[in-house]
Amino acid sequence: MEKELEDTLEAIYLKYVDNEDNIITVLQDIQNELGYVEKEAVEWFAKKTYTPVSKFYGVITFYSQFHLAPRGKNIVTVCCGTVCHVKGAPKVIAKLKEDLKLKGADHTTRDMLFTMENVNCVGACSIAPVVIVNDKVFGKQSGDKMVKNLKYYKEELRN
Ligand code: FES
Repeated sequence: MEKELEDTLEAIYLKYVDNEDNIITVLQDIQNELGYVEKEAVEWFAKKTYTPVSKFYGVITFYSQFHLAPRGKNIVTVCCGTVCHVKGAPKVIAKLKEDLKLKGADHTTRDMLFTMENVNCVGACSIAPVVIVNDKVFGKQSGDKMVKNLKYYKEELRN
């Protein structure tokens, strides 16, 4: 483990050493510091606190806020709830994957500029299919419309 990472983890540990039940807060701090919950960091904490690694992963997998892999600069969230599914979400996903050159199970582009995720109903079924880019909601989308919408983000990143 790199010294810099160990120092970061040690600082988080010292903050929570008297409050061992606070796994969620520890994981939030790790994610805030590293951008995601790195496997090495979880193992370090498990060893340091004599806590089974499985206890950490139980929390990580229960809460959708935690991410086990680095994420791109822009998060493209495609709603895959029933209404969006029926109204064409699978076609939107296929087109976006093609546009972002995401292969197989990849979620993040190689240049780390985009991460594509799926969620269940985001509560905007009247404008299905719905795609959210960062905090902006795009309703009544098709694959082509979303490819055009993403152009804005791609140009933003170039400037
Ligand atoms: S199913 Fe997509 S917003 Fe409800």
